[in-house]
Amino acid sequence: MKYHIVTYGCQMNVHESEKIAGLLRGIGYTGEAPAEDADIIVFNTCCIRENAENHAFGNIGALKKLKRRRKGMLIAVGGCMAQEEGKAALLVKKFPFIDIIFGTHNVAELPALIERKKREKKVVSLLQDRAETEDGAEAFRTSYPNAWVNITYGCNNFCTYCIVPYVRGREKSRSAERILEEVRTLVAAGYKEITLLGQNVNSYRDGDTDFPALLDRVASVEGKFRLRFMTSHPKDFSSALVAVMKKHDKICNLLHLPAQSGSTRILSLMNRRYTREEYLEKVALFRREIPDGELTTDLIVGFPTETEEEFGETLSLVKEADFSSAFTFIYSPRTGTKAAAMEGQIPEAVSKARIARLIEQVNENTRRKSEKYVGKTIEVLCEDFDEKKGMYLGREPLGRMGYFPCATNCVGEFVQMKVTRANGVSLYGELV
Ligand code: SAH
Ligand code: SF4
Ligand code: F3S
Repeated sequence: MKYHIVTYGCQMNVHESEKIAGLLRGIGYTGEAPAEDADIIVFNTCCIRENAENHAFGNIGALKKLKRRRKGMLIAVGGCMAQEEGKAALLVKKFPFIDIIFGTHNVAELPALIERKKREKKVVSLLQDRAETEDGAEAFRTSYPNAWVNITYGCNNFCTYCIVPYVRGREKSRSAERILEEVRTLVAAGYKEITLLGQNVNSYRDGDTDFPALLDRVASVEGKFRLRFMTSHPKDFSSALVAVMKKHDKICNLLHLPAQSGSTRILSLMNRRYTREEYLEKVALFRREIPDGELTTDLIVGFPTETEEEFGETLSLVKEADFSSAFTFIYSPRTGTKAAAMEGQIPEAVSKARIARLIEQVNENTRRKSEKYVGKTIEVLCEDFDEKKGMYLGREPLGRMGYFPCATNCVGEFVQMKVTRANGVSLYGELV
């Protein structure tokens, strides 16, 4: 029996799909297969923006014929969209051929739901929240040499545009001991990069252990590996965290610090709980303590009532904070969030024009910063072989992708690459 998992959304979902794969392997599925040949197709969905949902709807709908042809195959839909208020009912109505729907709080239940499906016509199982901080599922990892490790689940911040707190529940921290145990096991198994995951890692807490303390302990695990974490909410980004980053070479000096907007008025409407000035103070703190570090960010354009001038403040923030890259989004109203009910929604044409200008500014930063790498030697952790380019690829500590030829398979190895050419976030070179 084979499975096929389709993943939408963030790293958390990517890792959750690894857990789903682990669960399926635990009940006799032996490996992956293309959708046409799979015995179960699992959609791990996202609902952060409307296009993420449309994408999933389109892909699920496209299975109608296949399902008619292969009656025995199972179709399961989980993830954030399945967890969204009213969506399970809509999914069932639109796509009667779906067999199983599960949510974000009961992933580990999937094997039991598959069992139930043998007796029931359709199985829908959603929990409001969860009490436990463990998923109860062993991941079948596919991201070697990187390994994702959850440290928190859920979110309490309720940024007014965001649906995550509604579909992922209240914030919960895993026990520090469990996290350390997992990291030690992964490093011993040969993983070379550990990425700690949480919607807001900075609010991690287990007894006396806060995030800087946890990071310090994880970075003290023996062995050569890189340590990354995401995401940091600027309101909780502290000098204690910078001190730990400075203390350990293992921790990559790349900080992803989502600003969302450069306008204090918009930030306040977003309920981000920092001003432009406070954000820039955190940036200054990071630059002062870690001068060779890099910052990346997330930015939203077209939040309700955003004026041309306020958008201009986001543009100028990109310059001032000197981000090396950024994820840029057009604001997408999410049913049930505060911002969706606000007056002054921005027409799409306006948002599109704004995001184009923003992307241009971000690309300008990326180009300028990448070009400085030409002639330098960087350490790349080889991740994969790019068939099209005929080259190996991997990341340098600050997140740029390095491409290089190599006569032997070096996936999972740290290599030294001399940069000969830069193109956006991609660097090309040869091994030294
Ligand atoms: N917890 C993380 C981000 C999770 S969502 C954090 O707080 O940084 C990833 C990004 O999606 C957010 O940073 C935000 O920029 C974007 N996003 C979230 N909701 C959105 C919406 N309704 N419309 C557009 N972008 C959104
Ligand atoms: Fe969403 Fe804000 Fe929570 Fe991030 S911190 S997941 S943007 S509510
Ligand atoms: Fe992630 Fe999308 Fe859910 S961004 S937390 S998968 S809504």
